[in-house]
Amino acid sequence: MTAKIISGTEVAKQIREELKVEIAELKEKHNIIPGLVTILVGEDPASQSYVAAKNKTAHAIGIHSEQITLDADTPEDELLELVRKYNSDDSCNGILVQLPLPKHINEGLILNEINPDKDVDGFHPVNIGRMVLGEKCFLPCTPHGVLELLARSGVETSGAEVVIIGRSNIVGKPMANLMMQKRESGNATVTVCHTRTKDMAAHCRRADIIIAAVGVPKMVTADMVKDGVAIMDVGVNRIGKTESGKAILAGDVDFDAVKEKASVITPVPGGVGPMTITMLMKNTLQSAKMAAGLI
Ligand code: GUN
Repeated sequence: MTAKIISGTEVAKQIREELKVEIAELKEKHNIIPGLVTILVGEDPASQSYVAAKNKTAHAIGIHSEQITLDADTPEDELLELVRKYNSDDSCNGILVQLPLPKHINEGLILNEINPDKDVDGFHPVNIGRMVLGEKCFLPCTPHGVLELLARSGVETSGAEVVIIGRSNIVGKPMANLMMQKRESGNATVTVCHTRTKDMAAHCRRADIIIAAVGVPKMVTADMVKDGVAIMDVGVNRIGKTESGKAILAGDVDFDAVKEKASVITPVPGGVGPMTITMLMKNTLQSAKMAAGLI
């Protein structure tokens, strides 16, 4: 079997077109423009490019977006103050503090300070709690993007054996929770593998769906998967540079070999990545509508 390659770029484009229409309507009918503030502390090149892409996408679909860049040695207090400022600014519907933060800043403290109703990343404990309880909330963008990709590619999750590799707060943990929820795109039997898992290959071989979010290039090999598996590769690993200095990327899955056994597979780049940003836009629109009492 050779897999259908799921272009996250294409799916994301389609969703962004849908959002663009909704955002234009919101302006026309209610004179509301959703507002997003992104805060970047320091000069990490990967974070710089992610934040730039988030702002560019926001502008392209009609979201007002402001990027704030702070020095790497910005004191924690100053960042907290900035978050408080935007918490009480009605023109701002979404506050995104790009992670990771420099070591001297307590990430949890900052994320806790964001008003849960503006937490478009879905990282605040209140939103995580709401997600676990199946209540209305902002879903974390990467897991939400994976759910959309599965749904729009017709992959059945109900009753499926899902193996998630990685237990990060941003991807693995929420992904596991969403997949087991009693809802559409859920109802799966979920296994979470991590660094202490004894026989990862054995778990993977049972899986109907593998979601790899571990940060190890090409870790999932063809001998670890069964025929017909659906693969969602969340990993973005820099494995070298081209002569012109551009990063060469690889996912957590050995794409070339695994695509010969899988039914569907996401590439890296151009798979889950573009969906993450698009879900952030969706959450920002949701926040603006909530603030206006429209939903
Ligand atoms: N760093 C890596 N992914 C993300 C993300 O989705 N949101 C934020 N705020 N930081 C990140």
